[in-house]
Amino acid sequence: MSDVVAFVPTMGALHAGHLELIKRARLLSPNVVLSIFVNPLQFEKSADLDSYPRDLAGDTAKARAAGATKVWAPTYEEVYPEEIVKISAGELGALFEGRERVGHFDGVLTVVNRLFAVVKPSYAIFGEKDFQQLFIVKRWVKENQIPVEIIAVPTVRDGDGLALSSRNARLTPEDRKSALVINRALRASSRDEMVAVLAEEPGFKLDYAEIIDEESFQIADSETRLRRGIVAGWVNGVRLIDNMPLRTEE
Ligand code: PAF
Repeated sequence: MSDVVAFVPTMGALHAGHLELIKRARLLSPNVVLSIFVNPLQFEKSADLDSYPRDLAGDTAKARAAGATKVWAPTYEEVYPEEIVKISAGELGALFEGRERVGHFDGVLTVVNRLFAVVKPSYAIFGEKDFQQLFIVKRWVKENQIPVEIIAVPTVRDGDGLALSSRNARLTPEDRKSALVINRALRASSRDEMVAVLAEEPGFKLDYAEIIDEESFQIADSETRLRRGIVAGWVNGVRLIDNMPLRTEE
């Protein structure tokens, strides 16, 4: 049996987006490890941590049906057996998502580092939905020569275009209609247009809308080759994020 491991790190509450990650992992190796660990270090508010949905039996069944060969749900002590050595996500960790969620990306890198140390994967699969997380993890792996290949999987969307997220369960049908403005905005071809589309929806409270350079995650400029719109905001108390490559007919 191959000792190549394809790893899907998650915090549980699995939806079809996670199942795509597992399917992709299966194409890379017959050994697919899925972890379920709600990492306290990446939550800024303890209420969010406490209310995070937990359904180990349901998640395990879904993960196995999608092709995971091992589901690993470690305890806090298994992940952090010693004093925590925190990893910093640097300046980018404080931008965009990091502005709203201080310390979040440090927490993500710290747990990813620990999970990789235990699972020792050859591949780790991340969704593009959390594009800043994906970028920060990729950069950390490259800079530190971590021997894991990071594989990105495109965002899975519902038929109406809303990106799948465990938070969508908290949206009423009315909220969902408001949330769809994000998808419409991301189809704009400039930041101004994106912001104007978002402003048309009274049920949406903008946090940020930017066009970034995919290669640096800085605000795009005239030199930028690959542009991506990133949006975050609130619908009735639920924070939603999404991103898409920018349409190029500028
Ligand atoms: O994207 C997530 O679910 C989490 O941030 C991750 C990568 C599992 C780390 O806790």
